[in-house]
Amino acid sequence: MVDGLANVTADPDANHKARYAGRIIFVWAGQSHAAFPSTDRGGVIVRAEFLRAGTIQELKSKGRLVVRGAHRPTLVVEDRGRIFALDNRCPHMGFPLDRGSIEDGILICHWHHARFDLASGCTFDLWADDVPTCAVELRGDEVWVQPEFGRPDAAAYWRQRLEEGMAHNLGLVIAKAIQGQLAAGVSPLEIVR
Ligand code: FES
Repeated sequence: MVDGLANVTADPDANHKARYAGRIIFVWAGQSHAAFPSTDRGGVIVRAEFLRAGTIQELKSKGRLVVRGAHRPTLVVEDRGRIFALDNRCPHMGFPLDRGSIEDGILICHWHHARFDLASGCTFDLWADDVPTCAVELRGDEVWVQPEFGRPDAAAYWRQRLEEGMAHNLGLVIAKAIQGQLAAGVSPLEIVR
C-alpha cells in the first residue's frame, strides 16, 4: 500500500470506481473501461488507448512523469495522494508544464506563471486557456493514462473564449478562439455573427 493512495487501493473490490481529475475511472485488475467514449481536438475526434505511465513509486519519487507518443505529451502528477493527467503543453503558449511547480492542487507554468487547477484543468488566469485533462487508471501499482484530450463542447467553449477575449482585448485569446471554432466545424459566418 502506498501512502496517500490508501483511499483508492484499500477497497477490496477490484473493479470499483474512483474519481480522479474530475472523471470517473476504474481501479482495476482486469480489462479496461474508457472513462470517456471519445474526446475531440479542436473538433477532430482522437481516440486513444490507455498507456502505462510508470509505477506509483516512480511517480512519487520523481514527482511527475511525462508519457510521450503519437498523442499529445501527457503529464502525470501526484499531489497530496491524488493522481492527475494533463496535456503537457501549456495552453497559453505551449511551454512544457512538467517544468512547472505544484502547490496546493495548483499547477503553475514557469514561463508566464499561468495557474491551473489540477483536478479540472481550469485556469485562474483569463489570458490563459484551460488545460485539457485525461483519464487516469490504477492497475495494481502501475499508473495508466488515456491520452484523449478535448472538450465536451469545443464550439461552445471557444465561443465563450472569443467573447472573453474581446471583452478584455486579449489578442492571443481571440486568435485561438477563432481557430478553435474553425477546427470544431463552426462556419466563419457563424463566428463573426
Ligand atoms: S506558456 Fe505557460 S504561462 Fe505562458
